[in-house]
Amino acid sequence: MDKFAIQGGVPLRGEIPTGGAKNSALPALAACLLSEEPVTLRRIPNVRDIATMEKLLRSLGAKVDIRGGAVRVDARKLTSSEAPYELVKTMRASSLVLGPLAARMGRARVSLPGGCAIGARPINLHLSGLEQLGAVIRQEHGYIEAEAPGGLHGAYYTFDRITVTGTEDLMMAAVLAQGETVLENAAREPEVTDLAALLTKMGAKIEGAGTSTIRIQGVGRLSGAEHTIIADRIEAGTFLIAGAITGGELTVTGCVPEHLMALILKLRQAGAEVTEVGTNCLRVSAGGLKAVDVTTEEYPGFATDLQAQYMALMTQAEGISLVTETIFENRFMHALELMRMGANIRLDGRRAIVAGPSRLTGAAVIASDLRASASLVLAALVASGETVIDRVYHIDRGYEKIEDKLARVGAQIRRLK
Ligand code: EPZ
Repeated sequence: MDKFAIQGGVPLRGEIPTGGAKNSALPALAACLLSEEPVTLRRIPNVRDIATMEKLLRSLGAKVDIRGGAVRVDARKLTSSEAPYELVKTMRASSLVLGPLAARMGRARVSLPGGCAIGARPINLHLSGLEQLGAVIRQEHGYIEAEAPGGLHGAYYTFDRITVTGTEDLMMAAVLAQGETVLENAAREPEVTDLAALLTKMGAKIEGAGTSTIRIQGVGRLSGAEHTIIADRIEAGTFLIAGAITGGELTVTGCVPEHLMALILKLRQAGAEVTEVGTNCLRVSAGGLKAVDVTTEEYPGFATDLQAQYMALMTQAEGISLVTETIFENRFMHALELMRMGANIRLDGRRAIVAGPSRLTGAAVIASDLRASASLVLAALVASGETVIDRVYHIDRGYEKIEDKLARVGAQIRRLK
């Protein structure tokens, strides 16, 4: 298994690019299953989760051609409606094919994702929503079967709690359903809005994406389309924090500042300077940081996918900060590894109390999930001596060649094969 070796202490300087959003590319690839015509998606990040989704589409019978950052999916002849355990167990977002297959094929068989390092993460709301749209749901042998031989019909559905992929899954199911669907308490994440933009280009009728109420008029069929995926706000946010934590000056290019407002606000409150330079570029520089509390929330609140990275930053800030995680029940695995590096953190259920600044020292640490591994990379960039991060396959799931990007702005980082 690959590892990263990082020598800390170098302020990062220069320009660092943002890639396409993994969490927008995944539902966009699944949406290709809804049409009998080819769809071309651009700015698709070359990360492991995308490779898994491409493998899944091929196993369903779709043709997938990859040229540079563009992926062309031709799903005219699907030969299966099953998402096998072997693929779903490596990436729970595979459950995003449930809605499109049920809508297009009238049948979907998808392995249940099972538990995850950051929480139980059930898909009960995806299933109750599909039932509302007329699917018969059965669970056996670790698989979910959704049957709608006569096709799905429109419905009024309120999510018990906000779910990003739940909203995306039901939106994709509803675009081919008979009649109107209204989704209430829907997720407002930019990735949801981006998916609606793609579906609209394919001929879907959607209103209100990006708000809590999404209205969808079903259509008989969808056409092909071409679409460029939005920038990855979590990757861009990770780089902003990298600039702040190392006390350098970094310009993050190709991002959407509007999607990062909650983080920008916290960085400014902590004493960092964050400025918009030109279009789609943010410059960050920081002297002494001060402790600022944060609570994760659904968009437009502070993203849970930036919580671990922010905690690493707070280990270097003057004072006591409270980090509260409201989305996932077990998303503090990184804290234990940060403590191994010398951080002063006390865990109390869904709250972490961070006292800083702590002098971090290099150590051997283990990544437990995608964003936790990003947090360890950030901590290693300021630690004295060398840190070796094990299981970086986690980071490869969602960051494209992060070691190359960071090395270009001065980081002493290398991959140990
Ligand atoms: C998406 O996951 C993202 N993944 C996650 O990013 C992100 O952390 C999460 O949204 C929250 O922003 C993708 O987009 C592929 P949820 P998702 O359904 O949709 C509970 C990363 O690092 N819930 O919004 O799976 C659930 O357990 C990943 O890139 C139910 O109870 O998250 C959680 O506590 C990690 N029943 C909460 O809702 C359901 O049916 C929010 O989860 C669905 C969700």
